[in-house]
Amino acid sequence: MCGIVGYVGNRPALSIVLDGLRRLEYRGYDSAGIAVIDKNEVRTEKRAGKLANLEKALAERADDGIAAGRTAIGHTRWATHGGPTDRNAHPHLSADGRVAVIHNGIIENFSRLRAELEAGGVEFRSDTDTECAAHLLAAEMRALREAGGEPGPALLAEGMRRVVRRLEGAFTLLAIDVEVPGAVVAARRNSPLVVGRGNGENFLASDVSAFIEHTREAVELGQDQVVLITPDQIEITDFDGAPATGKEFHVDWDLSAAEKGGYEYFMLKEIAEQPQAIADTLLGRLSERGEIILDEVRLTDQDLRDVDKVFIVACGTSFHAGMVAKYAIEHWVRIPCEVELASEFRYRDPILDRSTLVIVISQSGETMDTLMALRHAKEQKARVLAICNSNGSTIPRESDAVLYTHGGPEIAVASTKAFLTQLVACYLIGLHLAQIRGVMYADEVAAVVEKLQATPDSLRTLLGRMEDVRALGRDLRTASTVLFIGRHVGFPVALEGALKLKELAYMHAEGFAAGELKHGPISLIDEGTPVVCVVPSPAGRGVIRDKVVSNIQEVRARGARTIVIAEEGDEDVRAFADHLITVPPTPTLLAPLMTTVPLQILACEIAAARGNDVDQPRNLAKSVTVE
Ligand code: F6R
Repeated sequence: MCGIVGYVGNRPALSIVLDGLRRLEYRGYDSAGIAVIDKNEVRTEKRAGKLANLEKALAERADDGIAAGRTAIGHTRWATHGGPTDRNAHPHLSADGRVAVIHNGIIENFSRLRAELEAGGVEFRSDTDTECAAHLLAAEMRALREAGGEPGPALLAEGMRRVVRRLEGAFTLLAIDVEVPGAVVAARRNSPLVVGRGNGENFLASDVSAFIEHTREAVELGQDQVVLITPDQIEITDFDGAPATGKEFHVDWDLSAAEKGGYEYFMLKEIAEQPQAIADTLLGRLSERGEIILDEVRLTDQDLRDVDKVFIVACGTSFHAGMVAKYAIEHWVRIPCEVELASEFRYRDPILDRSTLVIVISQSGETMDTLMALRHAKEQKARVLAICNSNGSTIPRESDAVLYTHGGPEIAVASTKAFLTQLVACYLIGLHLAQIRGVMYADEVAAVVEKLQATPDSLRTLLGRMEDVRALGRDLRTASTVLFIGRHVGFPVALEGALKLKELAYMHAEGFAAGELKHGPISLIDEGTPVVCVVPSPAGRGVIRDKVVSNIQEVRARGARTIVIAEEGDEDVRAFADHLITVPPTPTLLAPLMTTVPLQILACEIAAARGNDVDQPRNLAKSVTVE
């Protein structure tokens, strides 16, 4: 999830693109870079770190005309392939320096393309998947010119179409070519792209906040489309060159709403991004036959076969992801899996050795408790695999191996999309272990993968019908305590629901294993106490589902107001629910990808109704770098 801006018009492009990047920095801040066409040259500047580093470099740069060019592209990076360094920062240039490309997304077949280009003598200057698009475009432009094509915008668009037809994965690509000053070409598959229609100038960006200072007339590009912009023209085609149209719209949000994609809070925006975040985390990690491909994880198959115990270590929400993973890993891989709070782990003197796999989970990659646990595990010679959302952060750097979640930056302090993508990463690791250890047959793995691939669409359906949950949230704003119960993977979901409510609404909330209620906590229940009950799917684990239904009846008998989260079609629970929230059918182990989401929305809504700062709750920080 990177930020992308393009400009062509009659004003100096540099400052317009930099302003746009400032608005998009929330999309990634691993590096920033810009390319401007000026006097028959592509001039670039790029720097690792925040946009401020790029601005400083530009301010110190001798005036070589970069500030005067009228055509430019700019990028803020959320690193996926290749660490967050200067050399991996975008834009990437072709070998002859004539073409510059920026990219948001993941080119899945880049290793194959890179090998092919290297065999043809191209030298790569970065570790990114993007660079191959720059070399490919330069080669296509050369071929088109040699075939008699007149250099101009139409040729540039054709060159881009030829390139994208060869790419697999998700991408927004923007490119400029020095032979075609006064034009920017772009292509879109899966990653977002909007055009801003100006007067004698046009814009391209990942979202409208980058250009609404200049124009509020926008065109959202459709899937698999190429767009060419010049100062007076916006021309859209499909990847084969047939004319196409995007979706025209007028932006009436103010700037701050635009940064939040029109949502009131970053948290709501991030909740809405979850289907895409799951899809991005799966991207490039599944074969067409439904096998798991985790070549990027630098542990050999033999290392993974030697593992005789797994520890999962994390804090807060990431710990809850680990709890879900325990159920999945033990069920699929049939080796013992313990989950530990990072702050407790090393003080307990856990028994670790070379055949222990320690999985550390951290969104930020900087949590001190988790980092210290990781160091302790390494001292004991265990192998450490990190699941992390922040490329190049300390935890993945110090681990033996890493699997990145591709959730994109999470701005709201309360973790939402990071949690769901952590679950996906855990599922991938569990299935991978089961696959290479021969515990699951290929068709069994493929069957789970198929269900996993269906979750983004199911989640979109679920997110489309959350109005009742919002209304319920407003209604619950005056409750003094809310309890959450669940069994099996519903238990960590209950804990996560309670954590979200505590941190956002500053209310007393607690999650329990539903079977534990009768051992004490049931005395908390009073007339009208809201109890959120996470009910497992009746398919597959009917026994557990029936037990939860009994627990619901127990709390109801003591006056609780029951808010029941159950699978669509589980009609029998209706009789025990004061409020029923249904989620699309999903296999039991994957169900937290659905059942967590209404709880995120509920907490957000209650917090907002209580007048709290949803994105920055009191006393908390996004990255906790103290023990
Ligand atoms: C809760 C939340 C925290 C984090 C915890 C670990 O919404 O965000 O509980 O999950 O502080 O942070 P990371 O995953 O960055 O190590």
